[in-house]
Amino acid sequence: MANYQEVFTKSIEQPEEFWAEAAAGIDWYQSWDKVLDDANPPFYRWFTGGMMNTCFNAVDRHVAAGRGEQAAIIYDSPVTDSVTTITYNQLHERVAQLAGALKRAGAEKGDTVIIYMPMIPEAVYAMLACARLGVIHSVVFGGFAAPELAIRINHAQPKFLLSASGAIEGKKTLAYKPIIDQAIDMAEHKVKHCVILQRPFVGADMQDGRDLDWNDFIGGAEPAECVPVAATDPLYILYTSGTTGMPKGVMRDNGGHAVALHWSMKAIYDIDAGDVFWSASDVGWVVGHSYIVYGPLLKGATTVFYEGKPVGTPDAGAFWRVISEHQVKALFTAPTAFRAIKKEDPTGSFISKYDISCFEALYLAGERLDPDTYYWASDLLKVPVIDHWWQTETGWAIVANCRGIEELPIKAGSPTKPAPGYDVRIVDDGGLELGANQEGNIVVKLPLPPGTLATLWHNEERFVKSYMKTFPGYYETSDGGYIDDDGYVYVMGRIDDVINIAGHRLSTGAMEEVIATHPDVAECAVIGTDDQLKGQLPVGLFVLKSGVERSNEEVKAELVKLVREKIGAIACFHEATSVARLPKTRSGKILRGTMRSIAAGREYRMPSTIDDPTILDEITDTLTDMGFPHK
Ligand code: COA
Ligand code: AMP
Repeated sequence: MANYQEVFTKSIEQPEEFWAEAAAGIDWYQSWDKVLDDANPPFYRWFTGGMMNTCFNAVDRHVAAGRGEQAAIIYDSPVTDSVTTITYNQLHERVAQLAGALKRAGAEKGDTVIIYMPMIPEAVYAMLACARLGVIHSVVFGGFAAPELAIRINHAQPKFLLSASGAIEGKKTLAYKPIIDQAIDMAEHKVKHCVILQRPFVGADMQDGRDLDWNDFIGGAEPAECVPVAATDPLYILYTSGTTGMPKGVMRDNGGHAVALHWSMKAIYDIDAGDVFWSASDVGWVVGHSYIVYGPLLKGATTVFYEGKPVGTPDAGAFWRVISEHQVKALFTAPTAFRAIKKEDPTGSFISKYDISCFEALYLAGERLDPDTYYWASDLLKVPVIDHWWQTETGWAIVANCRGIEELPIKAGSPTKPAPGYDVRIVDDGGLELGANQEGNIVVKLPLPPGTLATLWHNEERFVKSYMKTFPGYYETSDGGYIDDDGYVYVMGRIDDVINIAGHRLSTGAMEEVIATHPDVAECAVIGTDDQLKGQLPVGLFVLKSGVERSNEEVKAELVKLVREKIGAIACFHEATSVARLPKTRSGKILRGTMRSIAAGREYRMPSTIDDPTILDEITDTLTDMGFPHK
């Protein structure tokens, strides 16, 4: 067993040696000239000069190594009442054929493709087929509404859009095609073709010339070989919420990403080739990219692909059934999923129905792991419950208990210590480094390790401004927290306008932009409030234009509908109320942080720049009437 501290120290003091060793886990067509290219900070590049292919490493090499008959994907879909195993041989065949079809239709290295799909294996085939050709994919979460899809179409400029006719979300059937049609109508950029997989429970109306049936599209296509790409070439763009309505297009490269994810499977999750790993998330989120698709497949493990919910499909025993049926060694999900199970089955009675002796560890991330949920899961499962902290931008854990290196004692409330490669520090607003137990901004000293964002797609200026400018020489995480005397990191939450609802990252700024388009609203603020099930929920406070005499309920209902139509149901925007005024600084900045503290029942310091302190009393009364802070 290695020693965490030694491994960590080497990763920080000798990053090039450290990551060159990790890179031996990947097959290269051509080795790199430089492990770390730091010629143009804050843009760092890993493995420059190296040539490889991510799909080859995730699929072909496992077939060549004799894993062809091993399950690559177990597609478990309680919503369609089916379980299907896809071997590495089958995955290879299907991905190569889809890549061949894309090539035949004109897709070339460097093109972009949007994938807007539910949790079906074709989503994985699509991602890997793109990677096979050096085509850059951008997966858009199926819960986003048409305007959000349109924003991403305009920005990513895809040649093709790959999708399905619909999804079953819990007990609801959702049709995707009307959303796609609307998004394409709204977008200025026009895709060449939409390729639609028709699912039996919902049909899609096809537009002649533009829309192609998935099976017709792949029919007769010659399997395509892997195209060698530079390690620094983009693999994918994943849009994530920032503080405005325009999401950030996180760009991930091929080489560093493959090296880091492959390495993390053992170091963090203790997963070897042949093990069964389950990440209960969605391909539309970063967890889905890294740990449903790329991480486990790069490792030669089996990934469980689950189209269902933790509860209601059919009951709160669903997770235990999947673990038992597929011999899952480790599960990764968001704390919300466990809170949902706990709510339905507080005593965990369903677990006794299943033999889950195969199960070795539970990994949670995506939002703060509250101690109640930690103790509940840990008492019930009697295996290590590992909290780990990361972001879409980093693509893998910044802070974790790296069980594959050395399992450290767990402290409830902390995701443990920085993962190798991340030199985590706490600084005050002026950039001064703080000592143990002092709360401040969590930053990471540059360079970030491989696998983290290379830049923001077509927006280097925003990349620098969002992450690299406030604290020169450091990556700004926008999370606040502290490090204790033992080096354990505590993450207290976002210090910007990003919130996490049921482990889904959303922007209150984007919701404000939508609300501001309502003709009766003069101004508004959306704040994140605590929620027992989903961690956080948004609450809107709006000021009506003078002369508007409409009931609060009427306007609220319209705003709720508007946010649902423009952003999507996953925004979970259900609460809003009108206020006479919003608290502001003398320069006119709305004091959202202060309102968040009031809603949470936290002590706050009266901002010295506040224009009129009496407004805070009005806001406190309003939030109290709405039931905040929760008891
Ligand atoms: N496509 C379309 N709509 C979707 C969707 C998708 N992929 N995912 C969610 N939605 C919709 C839901 O149907 C719901 O709509 P409604 O307002 O009409 O009911 C809305 O978005 C809110 O969804 P959600 O917040 O997920 O609430 P829920 O009640 O459906 O489920 C949980 C609650 C806790 C069971 C669920 O959020 C969950 O399993 N979360 C944890 C796991 C996870 O996915 N984490 C992601 C990152 S690791
Ligand atoms: P996302 O980009 O969707 O992964 O969301 C990233 C944000 O989720 C982080 O900036 C944190 O605010 C939050 N987050 C993720 N994991 C954790 C964790 N383990 N503990 C606390 N917050 C977390």
